[in-house]
Amino acid sequence: MLVTSLFLAGLFYHNPLAAVPVFGIVCLVYWLMTHNYKFWEIDGVPFPKPSMFTGNLGPTLTLKKHICELASEWYNAYPEKPFVGYFKIFTPAIMVRDPVLVKNILTRDFDCFANNDFLLDIGQDPLLSHDPFLVTGERWKRARSLLTPSFTGAKIKQLFPVMESVADAFEAFIGRHVLQELEAKELAARFTTQNVVACTFSIDGDCFTEQESEFRRMGRRVFETSHLATIKTMMAVFLPDIAKWIPVPFLLKDVDQWIRSLVANLIIKRSATEPLAKNPVIQQRLYDEIRKQIDANHGKLDFDVMQNMEYLDWVMLETLRMHPPAATMHKISTKKYIMRKGFRDETGHEMSIYVREGTPVLIPVLSIHMDPKYHPEPQQFDPQRFSTERKVNHPGTVFLPFGDGPRMCLGMRFAQAQVKLALVKLMLSFRVLVAPSDKPFVVDPRSFVYQSKHGLRIMFDKR
Ligand code: HEM
Repeated sequence: MLVTSLFLAGLFYHNPLAAVPVFGIVCLVYWLMTHNYKFWEIDGVPFPKPSMFTGNLGPTLTLKKHICELASEWYNAYPEKPFVGYFKIFTPAIMVRDPVLVKNILTRDFDCFANNDFLLDIGQDPLLSHDPFLVTGERWKRARSLLTPSFTGAKIKQLFPVMESVADAFEAFIGRHVLQELEAKELAARFTTQNVVACTFSIDGDCFTEQESEFRRMGRRVFETSHLATIKTMMAVFLPDIAKWIPVPFLLKDVDQWIRSLVANLIIKRSATEPLAKNPVIQQRLYDEIRKQIDANHGKLDFDVMQNMEYLDWVMLETLRMHPPAATMHKISTKKYIMRKGFRDETGHEMSIYVREGTPVLIPVLSIHMDPKYHPEPQQFDPQRFSTERKVNHPGTVFLPFGDGPRMCLGMRFAQAQVKLALVKLMLSFRVLVAPSDKPFVVDPRSFVYQSKHGLRIMFDKR
């Protein structure tokens, strides 16, 4: 202490101007300690201890932990609380644990939480201004209503023959690689790209040839992005005020051009092959159901037959429960909101807090999916938990891989049909096995989507 004081006295004596930044830092630290980081304490909301300049997001900003891992730590630290406060750097933010509150936020009180907490600079990424996920207000309404007609049940049914021809080409591709190690994410991406290109433009994306196709190359680049863009994505979510000063587009220039000319909207689809490769009994049961339903339809597969395969549906839902690509959802309050604590004080008053306009709201999707209160033995891959007899009956939202309410995923039906069709074709011809070089699942902290850091190595054996 004495040495620091002497050092500062010497510094100011020789260079009085140095006092300005030092004074600024001292004031900032004082403000953080006494005012800002006491925000939730004053309101009586529990919160994990923040660090000085990163709030509660240090491990995520330094790419040590995925945001869903942090959210799970907070979720599990306060088991009885309806919500938990945290600091998004300096901004007081709130994580909602109670499924009834989650439901209200996404549906009944949507008006107060209509926007996703993500900054988009339309000047840098004009194309993304048509993506309903990224835009707000009137622009969102317009983008959503423009896209909605493309994703109705009837439309998907109409596209089924196109999707089936893609699935056949996919099956033939796997047939040429029997008992060879393949990377599941790369496989799923080939299938998704080919399918989107075929369904949107009725052309062959050439994704099942040995060489790198133009579509596949670009499809991969959509998710590669430059290092600067990765930093900007992180900032757009966690430090929007700074991100707006960085003139870097989210999309690489050539990717932007590619999408611009093709108007494709690709979203990562997670392959459901992983749990099947690890659970041969479930895989056999799935095969038996698929075979039975197709045999009962005179050996023909069509959209309606696929919709009748209930075990297939449960396998897909259970995969999404354990591996929701959006493991956390980020909203922002657009109006002042009263959030109920769910109990009354001794005088009978219902306890609640005011959530101010502009407060970031985190919905811990994965933590809710893995909470044994709602999904017993959550680490167990058990598709039958979605059967009518065992299905969870809860007044709130306890299963939300596609979100809920007016902003719920638009591509849900398309994505489900796509995953199911790929599974049906694969199951009919092959058994899926985990490859010897596969590593245990570790979430990739560099990716915003919940996905494996090491990928998933699988092999196919002919039935
Ligand atoms: C398994 C695959 C997919 C999953 C798990 C998924 C999940 C989600 C989630 C969680 C949201 C946010 C919902 C909310 O804020 O309440 C979302 C939004 C969206 N998804 Fe998906 N999605 C998938 C595939 C797709 C596909 C294939 C498309 C289109 C081809 C698509 C189009 C969209 C759009 C346009 C939105 C924004 C909706 C809006 O904000 O109004 N999704 N999705």
